[in-house]
This record gives sequence, structure tokens and C-alpha cells, in this order.
Amino acid sequence: MACALVTGATGGIGSELCAILAGNGYDLVLVARSEGKLARLSEHLELAYGVEAPAFPVDLSEPGCADRLFQAVTEAGIVVDILANNAGFGDQGAFLDSDWERQTGMVDLNIRALMRLSYLFGNEMRARGHGRILNMASVAAFTAGPFMPVYFASKAFVLSFSQALGEELRGSGVTVTALCPGTTDTGFWDAAGMDATRVFSLMRAQSPRSVAELGYRALMAGRPVALHSPATHLANIAARLVPRRLSTWVCGKVLSRRG
Ligand SMILES: NC(=O)c1ccc[n+]([C@@H]2O[C@H](COP(=O)([O-])OP(=O)(O)OC[C@H]3O[C@@H](n4cnc5c(N)ncnc54)[C@H](OP(=O)(O)O)[C@@H]3O)[C@@H](O)[C@H]2O)c1
Repeated sequence: MACALVTGATGGIGSELCAILAGNGYDLVLVARSEGKLARLSEHLELAYGVEAPAFPVDLSEPGCADRLFQAVTEAGIVVDILANNAGFGDQGAFLDSDWERQTGMVDLNIRALMRLSYLFGNEMRARGHGRILNMASVAAFTAGPFMPVYFASKAFVLSFSQALGEELRGSGVTVTALCPGTTDTGFWDAAGMDATRVFSLMRAQSPRSVAELGYRALMAGRPVALHSPATHLANIAARLVPRRLSTWVCGKVLSRRG
């Protein structure tokens, strides 16, 4: 049976993606930090869908963690056909007042771990002549984001990196898809120190299920980029038509307000 490794498997979008993959007959490798949540998810998926879904508790922002995960998965004899680099977090606040470790942790998770896992599993996939990679970008990829600058920049990186890697791998049997959700109703907002209710009153929140469904379809079709929600389509168009200074100013107005 084919196997999909999903990082951030216990979160809103990740757990929905796992359920969709399991429902389509994929075995899973579940990755996140919380051992308890991972164990419960593993048990649920194995019982509900009759697939194998071992849990690998890992903090992907730790140095060397992606290599250790790759090694553990390889030693367990698991061949990963689909890699979903979904784990990520944001942090609201002015950069100079922010916690430095949290900012670098964001880069380590949102960018570095995603890159390293793409490198390690991508090489295996290319050697086998098939594989699919899904990288989680965001509506945030299309503009600069004052008061969340590192998060927005990290998602711009993910979009650019994924498109470029997908192009390099054209004809190799390996596809790369960048998924760009808009505001989605998950634990992301609490984790970023943001008031979800206020954000959702400005931008309608999408369900994590609908994001995961679009991601799955785009992944299976080998599409390079998948945009979810009207706000993301608008941001994509605005990125071409609106001066960047203006979109940065508007974004800063939205993100500067707390509570
Ligand atoms: N929600 C939105 O509006 C939105 C919009 C656009 C893009 N996204 C992106 O979608 C992805 C999924 O986010 P979500 O909305 O589903 O948020 P979420 O509910 O907060 O889920 C985040 C997941 O990542 C895991 N995680 C966090 N830090 C980790 C670390 N250091 N190592 C390993 N796993 C870690 C979390 O589990 P543990 O805490 O157990 O580690 C959890 O499973 C993220 O990349 C996010 O940037 C979200």
C-alpha cells in the first residue's frame, strides 16, 4: 500500500488531510510534537480506515530533526510516496519587540525542515521515478506582512521554492504542489497569539476540511499551485496589479490590531 508522510498531522488542516489520505487507502506516517494527540490520531485512523498510521513525535524546529525523522522512517522500512510538509506556525507582533527564538524557530520549521524533508525524500522519490510533494504555503505568500513579517516571508519562500523545485523535477515522475489557503478555522490563530474571532469577522474563515480536500485534489493532479478561498485568489491578482507598497500598508493595518 502507498504511504503518505504528513507533518503537522494533529492540527486542523493536517488531520483532515490524513483522514482524506487514509480514506483513499494510503498508509500514513504521522508527525507532530504532541505524543498524546498523535497516538489518539493514529488509533483513530487505523480503526476507521484499516490503514497503518504509525506516529513519529518530532519537534521539526530542532536542529537535525528532519534527518532523524528520515532515518527513523527509513529504518522502519517505510517507503514514502507522498510527502506533505504541512506543519507551520505564525506569530503576531512587531519584529523588533518579538521573541528571537520564536522567530528563528518559525524559520526552522516553516522553511528549513520543509526544505530538508523535500531534499531527503525528494531524492528517494526521484530515484524511484515517482512521488508527490505537497508544501503548505498561504495567502500570506502574496504580500509582505507587517506585524507578522517572518511568517509572511516564510510562506513567500515556500511558494517560490515549491514552484522552482517542481519545475526542476518536470519529467522525473515527481511533482511538487504548493497549497495556498486563506484564513482557515484551526488552532493556527491561537498559536500565533491572534484573536480568531476578529480575524474571521474581517475575512471569512474556511473549513480545514475544504482546504485539505483542495490540497489532495491538486496533489493528485500534480498541479504546481492551488489557491483556496476567494481571498487567496484576490491576493494573487492584487500581487500583480496593486503596488506592493499599498498591499503592504493594507496588510499592516489589518495585522497591527490585537484583541
Ligand atoms: N489556519 C490558517 O488560516 C492557515 C492559512 C494559511 C496557511 N496555513 C498553514 O497551514 C499549515 C497547518 O496549519 P493549521 O492551520 O492546521 O494550524 P494548527 O491547527 O495550529 O496545526 C499546526 C500543526 O503543526 C504541528 N507543529 C507545530 N509546531 C511543530 C513543530 N515544531 N514540529 C512539528 N510539528 C509542529 C502542530 O502539532 P504540535 O503542536 O503537536 O506539534 C499541528 O499538528 C501551517 O503551515 C500554516 O502556516 C494556515
